[in-house]
Amino acid sequence: MQNVKEYIAQHKDRFLQELIELLKIPSISADSAFSQDVLDTAKAVKKALEKAGCDLVEIHETDGYPIVYGEKILNTNLPTVLVYGHYDVQPPDPMDLWNSPPFEPVIKKTELHPEGAIFARGTCDDKGQMFMHVKALEFMVKTNQLPCNVKFMIEGEEEVGSNNLSTYVSQNKEKLKNDIILISDTGMIANDVPSITTGLRGLSYVEVEVTGPNRDLHSGLYGGAVANPINILAKMIASLHDGNNHITIPGFYDKVQELSDEERAEMAKAPFSLEAYQKALDIDSVYGEKGYTTNERNSIRPTLDVNGIWGGYIGEGAKTVIASKAYAKISMRLVPNQDWREITELFKRHFESIAPKGVKVKVKPHHGGQGYVTPIDTDGYQAASKAYETTFGKKPIPQRGGGSIPIVSLFEKELDSKTILMGFGLDSDAIHSPNEHFGVWNYLKGIETIPYFYEYFTEMKKSS
Ligand code: BES
Ligand code: MN
Ligand code: MN
Repeated sequence: MQNVKEYIAQHKDRFLQELIELLKIPSISADSAFSQDVLDTAKAVKKALEKAGCDLVEIHETDGYPIVYGEKILNTNLPTVLVYGHYDVQPPDPMDLWNSPPFEPVIKKTELHPEGAIFARGTCDDKGQMFMHVKALEFMVKTNQLPCNVKFMIEGEEEVGSNNLSTYVSQNKEKLKNDIILISDTGMIANDVPSITTGLRGLSYVEVEVTGPNRDLHSGLYGGAVANPINILAKMIASLHDGNNHITIPGFYDKVQELSDEERAEMAKAPFSLEAYQKALDIDSVYGEKGYTTNERNSIRPTLDVNGIWGGYIGEGAKTVIASKAYAKISMRLVPNQDWREITELFKRHFESIAPKGVKVKVKPHHGGQGYVTPIDTDGYQAASKAYETTFGKKPIPQRGGGSIPIVSLFEKELDSKTILMGFGLDSDAIHSPNEHFGVWNYLKGIETIPYFYEYFTEMKKSS
């Protein structure tokens, strides 16, 4: 690979400016008020792919937001890399916690990003990381160094569960045929500790509704005599973990793949400072399942968390009332061998069974997906590892991640290909939170590293 560093140095300002323009469009897939913006973002991605050198770029309609498909096919005998990413973003709420408006990107220095970081919603998850691939393609095409075929599939519904992507993938297997899938939508340990994500957790997301009396009641006239749905919901939720922070749903752990002591010992070698972790979050202690370390709790173990809870009076001042209904949104992060549909069913059955007389309970499944683990003795992983080694000067550490990209397990099933998760963000980049950011250094490092993956992967495929 020639001149990648020089090319980046020469075009750095434009690379940043182009990303900033993309970040200005509020492509919030969860909120229909922004549907035009989501569609505009798809068009902007299409233009960017054309400009970067794709021969064909199409906007494929789905029942939801469209998928931007692009390709540059050099020769059908060469290997094909399929790049997946998403152009939709999470809602920016709560707005008042942002130090600068979420869709007016600014570059500011931080302790971990002394060269500056771009602050805006979607900068790390995933517009910035997706755009690294577009700019890496531009470099390879403009300098005549693209060694293989490339296809892009950039979707606009990842943050809301990729509901239409599965249909699209199963209906376009031939078009999407590839030798390896490349995704930058995860993180790494630190800028001086590169790592490659080798696993993602599955997910089951449900909403629960507890109904007591048929109307809101005066809490003096009726208080003490009827079930208060909010009290009951709180009690039910509290009972979902025991004193060791194990989840109490019968059968929940039955299929969990336990790691061997050797695997756990290997995992424990990754550098981690509990002190720094606690300090960054302003907590005086971590909290979680007994018998597991922090890194295990957030990657190889399943979880159950309330993501939101509401009901009753939350306006100014006080209102004495017993609400008729209470609600919660609950996510369960799953690990290999747990099936999300089965876990959803176990949750439903259990939650309904623990409801006391006097309330009715409804469980509404939202969405979900399977977890994923990729082996490291493959051409794909080895090529990625070598690419990081070249640009970071250090061998990356394989590490299982805690987040979910449910579509990855489906890719393996439908397209029969492995996914390599080359993420360049940091956990502290505040994805999904106020003040999301992405290091300028990380953005450029990604653009520098990706072409090496293409080169090494193509070499390995040719010789195998
Ligand atoms: N990019 C994230 C997933 C992620 C982040 C994985 C960091 C590993 C490390 C993705 O956009 C995301 O937020 N996924 C959702 C699931 C989806 C079904 C809404 C998640 O993990 O909550
Ligand atoms: Mn993402
Ligand atoms: Mn996300």
